[in-house]
Amino acid sequence: MNSFSSIPVVTIDGPAASGKGTLAAGLAAALGFHLLDSGLFYRMVGWKALDSGVSLNDEAALTRLAAELRPRFDGETVWLDGRDVSLALRRQEVGTAASTVAAWAGVRAALLHAQRMARRLPGLVADGRDMGTVVFPDAVCKIFIMAGVEERAQRRHKQLIEKGLPSNISTLLQEIGERDARDAGRDVAPLKAAPGALEIDTTKLDAPTVLAQALAYCRSRLAPANG
Ligand code: DC
Repeated sequence: MNSFSSIPVVTIDGPAASGKGTLAAGLAAALGFHLLDSGLFYRMVGWKALDSGVSLNDEAALTRLAAELRPRFDGETVWLDGRDVSLALRRQEVGTAASTVAAWAGVRAALLHAQRMARRLPGLVADGRDMGTVVFPDAVCKIFIMAGVEERAQRRHKQLIEKGLPSNISTLLQEIGERDARDAGRDVAPLKAAPGALEIDTTKLDAPTVLAQALAYCRSRLAPANG
């Protein structure tokens, strides 16, 4: 436990399409750390539920799905039950299903261990909603990022189009607003900044600027631990 908790963790939490993924990937590359996209786990449960016809209201069945997840990660590719689900997991309806299943305490508890297992040397950058508050409360560096809802809808629209997936800006705006309300309003592990987290509003900042701010902060926090 002691040696495990000495592995440095950087947490990045924030609402949908705030730039968490881009920032997390940039930080992991700059620091030479592993990367955990925790949203993928909730997306996998959401995808499996939609694929197998399990109701998003059936906590017991969803908890079983979560406990039995055996994903295989191969670079950017995610395999689930022998299928390449990488692109399917990015679909907007899977994101909405993920946000719905994520409100169940049983689902969250079932996914906790797999997320904590990503903590490996030389360090981990973890992005999600509750990385700094619940999954890695002892993280050495915690960041909370946000951006206005219109800006986030535009960014998600661009991402989906680039991936060749269907997207509609007004539907996106509505869905992101609903997702914010669900993720921040739930009883278990709601989206919120961890105490002491550096908060960055990315509405008017480009990705390199956000990365530079976050990296300077993390290096200052990591230096005493590394030295
Ligand atoms: O980060 P994302 O858009 O891939 O996440 C999809 C959904 O999963 C998000 O709306 C809420 C849920 N989620 C969560 O509850 N906790 C996390 N740590 C990550 C994601």
